[in-house]
Amino acid sequence: MTILFDPIRIGGLNLPNRIIMAPLTRGRTGAAGVPDPLVAEYYAQRADAGLLITEATAINAQGRGWRNAPGIYTDEQIAGWRAVADAVHARGGHIFMQIWHMGRTVLPKYANGERPVAPSEIKADGGMLDQDGNRRPFVIPRAITISEIKRTVADFAKAAERAVDAGLDGVEIHAANNFLVDSFLRDGTNRRKDDYGGSIENRARFLIETIEAVSRVIGANRVGVRLSPTNSYFGISDSQPHVTFPGVALLLNRFDLAYLHILESKPEGGLAPVSPLIRAAYKGTLIQNGGYNFESGNEAIDADAADAIAFGTLFIANPDLVTRFRRRLPLAAPDPETFYTPGAAGYIDYPFARSAA
Ligand SMILES: Cc1cc2nc3c(=O)[nH]c(=O)nc-3n(C[C@H](O)[C@H](O)[C@H](O)COP(=O)(O)O)c2cc1C
Repeated sequence: MTILFDPIRIGGLNLPNRIIMAPLTRGRTGAAGVPDPLVAEYYAQRADAGLLITEATAINAQGRGWRNAPGIYTDEQIAGWRAVADAVHARGGHIFMQIWHMGRTVLPKYANGERPVAPSEIKADGGMLDQDGNRRPFVIPRAITISEIKRTVADFAKAAERAVDAGLDGVEIHAANNFLVDSFLRDGTNRRKDDYGGSIENRARFLIETIEAVSRVIGANRVGVRLSPTNSYFGISDSQPHVTFPGVALLLNRFDLAYLHILESKPEGGLAPVSPLIRAAYKGTLIQNGGYNFESGNEAIDADAADAIAFGTLFIANPDLVTRFRRRLPLAAPDPETFYTPGAAGYIDYPFARSAA
């Protein structure tokens, strides 16, 4: 029986267990998107996870649109991340950086008043906080041009190079949750008539070009990819997720990626989950995420539905999740009020089991 506590080799790293910390935006890096010592402490607290995946981190200023979320495009940001990587490594941990461009969900307030870019002019549902904390509705994005696509691909590669230069062990390309890459993949947001729209191969072109560019600078075995086949965040949809996403997974087989990471909670509207089809199509290491606990995580690994399991909310409130799992200790519940608020409260002050016991 293979379980969460069994070691695994991912991306050339020997990980002591299969318990992965999912990427979690926490809004603790200020207006300039620079991780400070608090951020280093937060990740270091969780370093006994097999692998930490950082919060989504912007590849460039145009793609950054979440209040106080980090970037990896200024010298200060890079220095901040170097301290995070050093703190995690000092505790024997491993850390990949999730890199993103927020596409159509970047408010003009973040972008010098300019409209955000997306594959097509299709507005996201809802709104978001601006940097001053005011909630504003999304606007209709502008269709990104081919030359801008090329520049954005290059920015993903530059971001990956900077992350690795800063000492991170690899990057995860954020191709989930409606953000720029995902909005190319799913046909509800991609109505393009050029090489980047239409067939699955065309809709995946932006992702594939990004993987190629990033792999060229840091090596494919330091690159992970995250997909979310069935969620409807910000109103995104695909007419045939059971065809689209196994199709994308097949295209990924030609890279020797560190891993493919699937976020799929119980699909809405009684849809059958897509993850089993992705598992069958994809030949490399698969991380599953979405609503797992210790028991269901072990079951998924033992049933060969996944090679490792990522935990999101559980890691927010349980810095020592691995220890709690191992000793079957009770789990603390996270406080959603402090998910994205600045400062230490609800961030680095969740107790460790020895003080909780
Ligand atoms: C506060 C919070 C922030 C999140 N930030 C990110 C993010 O930056 N990138 C991402 O891909 N997913 C993000 N997610 C989704 C989580 O990675 C994860 O997929 C989700 O919580 C489901 O897993 P769980 O049931 O183990 O919590 C976030 C979720 C929460 C609750």
